[in-house]
Amino acid sequence: MSNLDNLLDNNAQWAARVQEQRPGFFENLAHQQTPEYLWIGCSDSRVPANQIVGLDPGDIFVHRNVANLVVHTDFNCLSVLQYAVEVLKVKHIIICGHYGCGGVAAALQNMEHGLIDNWLRNIKDLYEQHEVLFRDIKSDEERVNALCMLNVIGQVSNVSHTTIVQNAWKRGQDLSVHGWIYSIKDGLIKDLDSTLTGSEQVPAIYRLSEPE
Ligand code: CO
Repeated sequence: MSNLDNLLDNNAQWAARVQEQRPGFFENLAHQQTPEYLWIGCSDSRVPANQIVGLDPGDIFVHRNVANLVVHTDFNCLSVLQYAVEVLKVKHIIICGHYGCGGVAAALQNMEHGLIDNWLRNIKDLYEQHEVLFRDIKSDEERVNALCMLNVIGQVSNVSHTTIVQNAWKRGQDLSVHGWIYSIKDGLIKDLDSTLTGSEQVPAIYRLSEPE
């Protein structure tokens, strides 16, 4: 099949169904978006943000990339973060990784994958910094999953170190950063208990000082 008529048909049916079940839904959304959550997740097609937390269009602001990374030189992610925090004033930033992440698995290999190796190097760095944690893990699957969790926690740190989040906390804005991991095998999310809610939880070197 050379066209995408099936998708457009699905769309028309979906829009009609929503309009029938919740009259005015689209009209309300057209006026504004007031999501309370920013989701930073993996591009993996099996981890669709809205669907797995049961939220509607308008409820969650989303950024996805390979292996849910927050890199300080990535203006795409930083722009999303700035808009979400400073304009939309989201209350929660959720970094959601997933077990069995292909990006994380690729980072654990020594094969060349092309351009993406430059992106995945961030995960290799994380592994290298915490290599001692992996010494007793024998199975490849467990190594990948352990690094998936470590990667989420690393990105929670990265988000909290940004000037965007640091400044929000300095202003007294109500903002927390959470680390979650999703299992494709059962559809369940686990909270990695790595929530940060203020500068005092961040290493001193990353904190912005109060104005004199
Ligand atoms: Co992934």
